[in-house]
Amino acid sequence: MSISSTADWEGMRKVSEAVAVTLKEMRTYARPGMSTRTLDLYGAEILKEFGARPAPNLAYGFPGYTCISVNNEVAHGIPSAKRILQEGDLVNIDVSAELKGYWADNGGSFVLGEDLHGHKQLVNASKEILQKAIYSVKDGMRIAEMGRLIETEARKAGFTVIRNLLGHGVGRALHEAPHEIPCFYDKSNRTKFRKNSVIAIETFISTKGRHAYEGNDGWTLTTRDGGFVAQHEHTIVVTDGVPVILTEMNGIWN
Ligand code: CO
Ligand code: CO
Repeated sequence: MSISSTADWEGMRKVSEAVAVTLKEMRTYARPGMSTRTLDLYGAEILKEFGARPAPNLAYGFPGYTCISVNNEVAHGIPSAKRILQEGDLVNIDVSAELKGYWADNGGSFVLGEDLHGHKQLVNASKEILQKAIYSVKDGMRIAEMGRLIETEARKAGFTVIRNLLGHGVGRALHEAPHEIPCFYDKSNRTKFRKNSVIAIETFISTKGRHAYEGNDGWTLTTRDGGFVAQHEHTIVVTDGVPVILTEMNGIWN
């Protein structure tokens, strides 16, 4: 969407606060021994307190309130009572919601407890790259150039990018135009960022993979080569200068 009124600002700020607080609280709540279903239900309660409705279910009939992806799962992991979190797991929580007709999207990967498997470097690279990518965005910039930045920074850090998972427009729906905001330089993509447009920027940084594959459950995306992926995502508003990061909480990067 393109923000065109103070009501739009207000609506986007509220739904963004709901997803940002939920993501932050879920991260704090996550413990080894806890099922991803328990963690999901906890997130659902927080969204409810804000009056927000979980977007993946509302938009696509996803069987959960938030997406929780563990280790080789890249995205769209279905919360399950059987999936028990372990110390050192690479966990991704992606929270998106709708509130009074406005939609926001916020996600992040983290290492649960002690970094037993050495995932921290990947997680930190993803976070830093997202920050750089977001600060590069301004009115008139080609989307392809931001993709180039993410790809270049990932390579410099010794990582690859997943090419078939994308950032997207957001605001009046979970996914809206521009539909393709890739993590690589796609020279055929001539679309430019436009002032006041609301965008979900996401990184998909990997230890070796370039593609995510859909699993048998019809939702969960995984790598097939044993690679790991870290994702970080914020909902932003494009301006003439530094973007407004709607899902940023007090300067803390989830
Ligand atoms: Co998301
Ligand atoms: Co998204």
